[in-house]
This record gives sequence, structure tokens and C-alpha cells, in this order.
Amino acid sequence: MMVVGVTLLIFYSFMESHSEQLKVVGPEASLDAVAGENLVLPCFIKPNTSAVDMTVEWLRLEEMPLLVHRYRDHADRYEKQTPSYRGRTSLFKEELQKGNASLKLSPVRVSDEGEYKCLIEDKSWYDDIIVHIRVEAQGSHPVITMESYDNSGGVNLVCESRGWNPEPDVLWLNSEGDPLPAEETQIDRDTEGFSVKRRITVHDYSDSNRFYCRLQQKHHMIEAEVIINSKVFEAWKWDVGISVSACLITLGAIITAVICYKKGNLKIPL
Ligand SMILES: *[C@@H]1O[C@H](CO)[C@@H](O)[C@H](O)[C@H]1NC(C)=O
Ligand SMILES: *[C@@H]1O[C@H](CO)[C@@H](O)[C@H](O)[C@H]1NC(C)=O
Repeated sequence: MMVVGVTLLIFYSFMESHSEQLKVVGPEASLDAVAGENLVLPCFIKPNTSAVDMTVEWLRLEEMPLLVHRYRDHADRYEKQTPSYRGRTSLFKEELQKGNASLKLSPVRVSDEGEYKCLIEDKSWYDDIIVHIRVEAQGSHPVITMESYDNSGGVNLVCESRGWNPEPDVLWLNSEGDPLPAEETQIDRDTEGFSVKRRITVHDYSDSNRFYCRLQQKHHMIEAEVIINSKVFEAWKWDVGISVSACLITLGAIITAVICYKKGNLKIPL
């Protein structure tokens, strides 16, 4: 009786110390990934202990957690893996014996952005950590469209691009690279990421009518350029000139008509 009690006590304290010592650790900050590239989500046991005989699970934390990868009984188990991760996940088998249960995700998609749980379980112990990943995606090359003339003789331009994550900063720059005042950026979100649109009114700066629309994120930057010939600004003056003369002619016609009406009492179909 006594012997059994002592043995149990020893066994119990062994389990206690085992579980108190081991910890699952991962990155402190969230990870930045780039869509289309490979990513390693770090997760390992400290102090380094083989995880070969343990269960390793990677879950995506949503309202209902999704199974991303499962290793159990010395093999990867794909039966319950979430379809969107099929064929894109793996563990580093040689690293498992060093307690390294990091997950390789290849290639990363914008929709992979979110929180992941790495859970390591043994018969007598289990621990987990959360890894947050952010996925950057570079959108389409910006397109600049000339929309219309402004009342003051300027030209309205709009710069558009889609497929960004997160939303980029949109800047309008002059030929020297200085930012120009522009309208607020319009941002929309769809499944492929964010689409952005920003308008500006530019005027004839005589020497150089070269403008740039720049879209930038932490790791990406793209620019589009537009050159507006001074004749385009002059065309506005012509345009205004023509409408002013057209107005005068109309006015003239009305006045003439009224005079005629008064003089000869003619019927005028107005
Ligand atoms: C654990 O880490 C120590 C120090 O880095 C190293 O000497 C040892 O070989 C490692 N053990 C395993 C099982 O990888
Ligand atoms: C775990 O393995 C991956 C892949 O080989 C490696 O990049 C990472 O540095 C390893 N982590 C540790 C703590 O050894």
C-alpha cells in the first residue's frame, strides 16, 4: 500500500515538472506575408524536446475554427483538413525531433490573413500559442483617366487600381515628386482586396505638365505617369470661347426675334 502511494506520488510529481517546464512558443508580433510567396508560421517547444511522438495541430481561428494541418501518430492526417488549405501545408519533419512544429504555407493567399493556433499535445501535457498573419498583396497597375474640364480651366484626372491588401496610400505628385492636394481617396473592398480611386484637378503649370499617381504599401510601390500637353488646357479656353459666342448668338437671335415680334407682330415658335 505504502509503496504504491510513494510510486504514485513520484509519478505525479514527474508529470507536474514535465508540464511546468515545457512551453509552446512562437513569434511575439504578427507576421507580414506577401501574397504568392511561401510563409513559415513559427511554433516550437521550449526547452527543445522531440515532438515526433506528439500531436501537432494548426487551426485557423474563425467563429468555427478550421483545421489547417494535423500531425498525429507519426503521420500527417489530411482527412479533416479544410479544402482551401489542401496541398499548401507541411511541417518540417527533421525539425520535429527538435521540437520545431513550424508550419509552411505555400503559396500564401490574401484570404489566409488572420489568426492561427498552434497546439501541441502529449499524453500528459498540452500547450498552444496564437500566430497572427497579415498578407500584403500588390494591386493592379494604376490607370489614369482624364475625366473632364474643371470650371476654372483645370483638368480633372482620376487614378484607379484594384486588388490591394491592405489598402495602399494613394498620392498625386508633380514632376518634382512633391505631393499635390487632391480629393479624398475612395476605397472599396471585395474578395480580391481593396480597390482605390483618387481624383485631382490639375492646372497648366506652363513648364511641365507631368503628373504621377503613386500607390504605396509597406513593401510595394507602383506609379503611373500622365503628361498633359498645354494644348489640352488651351482647348478648354476654345471650348469656353465657343460656348460664350454660342450664347451671344442665341441671345442676339432672341433679341432680334423680340424686336421683329414687336415690329411686325410675327408668330415666333419659341
Ligand atoms: C537542444 O538545444 C541545445 C542547445 O541549443 C542543443 O545542444 C541540443 O542538441 C538540442 N537538442 C535537441 C534534441 O535538438
Ligand atoms: C524551425 O524550422 C524552420 C524551417 O526549417 C526554421 O526556419 C526555423 O528557424 C526553425 N525554428 C527554430 C526555433 O529552430
